[in-house]
Amino acid sequence: MNDFLFLSASPNQRTSIAYRFADALLESFSKKHPAASVNRRDLAANPLPPLSAAYGAALTKHTPLDDPAFRQSEHLIAELERSSHLLIATPMHNFTLPATLKLWIDHVLRIGRSFSPGPDGKVGLLADRPTYIIVSSGGFHRGPQARQPDCLSDYLRLALRTIGISDCHFIYLQGLVGGEGAVAAAFASAHEQLSQTPLFAGIEPMSSALVSSV
Ligand SMILES: Cc1cc2nc3c(=O)[nH]c(=O)nc-3n(C[C@H](O)[C@H](O)[C@H](O)COP(=O)(O)O)c2cc1C
Repeated sequence: MNDFLFLSASPNQRTSIAYRFADALLESFSKKHPAASVNRRDLAANPLPPLSAAYGAALTKHTPLDDPAFRQSEHLIAELERSSHLLIATPMHNFTLPATLKLWIDHVLRIGRSFSPGPDGKVGLLADRPTYIIVSSGGFHRGPQARQPDCLSDYLRLALRTIGISDCHFIYLQGLVGGEGAVAAAFASAHEQLSQTPLFAGIEPMSSALVSSV
């Protein structure tokens, strides 16, 4: 069992601001909880394979869980099941999720495995767990400077709730195209957002080195 599954989805990979913020958060968390373990999956560095026709066909029939068409999906769901917390670092792309993260969702939301259909809608079959989503964006989608819709948050919240994960906390790093000052302001705002959360409320603020290194 891992304490965290850390999914990152930015094409900027380890230089991504969302990734670096999430990574620093894990470092702060690990200082308080030295035994904490983290399983990392970089969806941009190691893209998942596209969905196959066999996978689509297997979904529509009563296919055994160990069918080869489900191998990738089964691997990702089992990986998620082994984590007590989920941390996602993702940029906003064209108002929503990057395609790499959407593909993870398409592999993980699986009828009969991670959710089942019910009379009132889909019912999640995985255990709920604290989930933190760090969203980076070049511009603003909330607050007084918002100039665009956010089609990412509600969708990702719905996708995770579909499989049983509803304890979701979104942390926004906005306005990142504005240079060093804007990044520093985004980090300060993100700290404020984190201070309202149960898991990260008591963490030490991250070092200013993180800001100046961006
Ligand atoms: C294909 C693409 C689409 C983007 N669409 C948006 C967008 O809709 N809204 C926005 O504010 N920023 C948009 N951006 C800017 C990214 O959100 C920004 O580059 C990202 O937050 C950088 O974060 P990172 O350092 O974590 O990778 C887009 C960037 C790319 C490459």
